[in-house]
Amino acid sequence: MPQLTWLITGCTSGLGETFARAILERGDKVIATTRGDVSRISSLAEAGAKTYSLDVTAPKAEIEEVVKKIYEEHGIDVLVNNAGYIEAGLCEEADLESYQTQFETNFFGVVKVTQAVLPYFRKKQDGTIIFVGSSGGIGGEPGAGPYCATKFALEGWYDCLKQETAHLNIKSVIFELGFFRTKIMDPNNIKFRSNPIADYDPIRNAVVQFVGQMNGKQPGDPKKAINIMIDVVKGEGVAEGKALPERLPLGSDCLATLRKKRVNDLAICNEWEDVIRSTNHDE
Ligand SMILES: NC(=O)c1ccc[n+]([C@@H]2O[C@H](COP(=O)([O-])OP(=O)(O)OC[C@H]3O[C@@H](n4cnc5c(N)ncnc54)[C@H](OP(=O)(O)O)[C@@H]3O)[C@@H](O)[C@H]2O)c1
Repeated sequence: MPQLTWLITGCTSGLGETFARAILERGDKVIATTRGDVSRISSLAEAGAKTYSLDVTAPKAEIEEVVKKIYEEHGIDVLVNNAGYIEAGLCEEADLESYQTQFETNFFGVVKVTQAVLPYFRKKQDGTIIFVGSSGGIGGEPGAGPYCATKFALEGWYDCLKQETAHLNIKSVIFELGFFRTKIMDPNNIKFRSNPIADYDPIRNAVVQFVGQMNGKQPGDPKKAINIMIDVVKGEGVAEGKALPERLPLGSDCLATLRKKRVNDLAICNEWEDVIRSTNHDE
């Protein structure tokens, strides 16, 4: 496969940084981005990436300007919509602001960056868009209402976009990750704007305990996931000879979530089939 140029959002840590380094190691070009000053990702520049400042919550016109500059200077073959974080909180307790700011980054940020890149992909009738989904976008978990809502929204938007752009030879895939060992659950990164309600004490306490125990002990290895994601885009390694999957869960915990969800869905379809089918008009 020819050398590709990858534009990645959110490269200061975790999956984004790992992505950038793995792509460089495999001989492709990387445009690494960060919100704030590019000095935050100077180590990626030293490793060979081109670096730009890109806050996915910036106004759309600003994002379009940055993408235009990047495209004119380097071209873009693959967009990796990676930037994101967790707003935790029980559904009733979480501040409305918590939902709004979470959507600004995890959903509207993705929409804005993708819309800024699409005109270039349409023009050359080529390009690949990667979405970083989550097991939290397959099945909701207590204490993760704002986060899961954004990842479910992403799944729906991705499904629409994929069908609308396929005839333009624009490829896309959503990777649904389980728990991977990054800074995402670090107490300094995870936001928890909660208005505690005593009725929820046991659930909230269990969530706080779960997050504390999981942080730093997530089963998933980001390097392994990233190498698979690159294989999938390039049709190499584990993906050699395979068609681009519509979606790919990564991590045994994510597989368990997906299986449980689909088995439950199927059980509902089977148990309620007659009722479900009974709602059409009689004619
Ligand atoms: N790790 C997991 O278990 C897991 C599972 C499922 C999905 N994911 C998804 O994977 C993606 C990356 O997360 P991670 O695990 O690598 O966490 P991470 O280590 O915390 O990295 C998140 C990255 O997103 C950046 N970011 C946040 N808000 C941004 C904004 N407004 N504009 C630009 N960049 C922004 C952060 O930059 P700053 O340093 O400036 O904050 C950081 O570089 C997220 O979309 C997350 O939802 C992760």
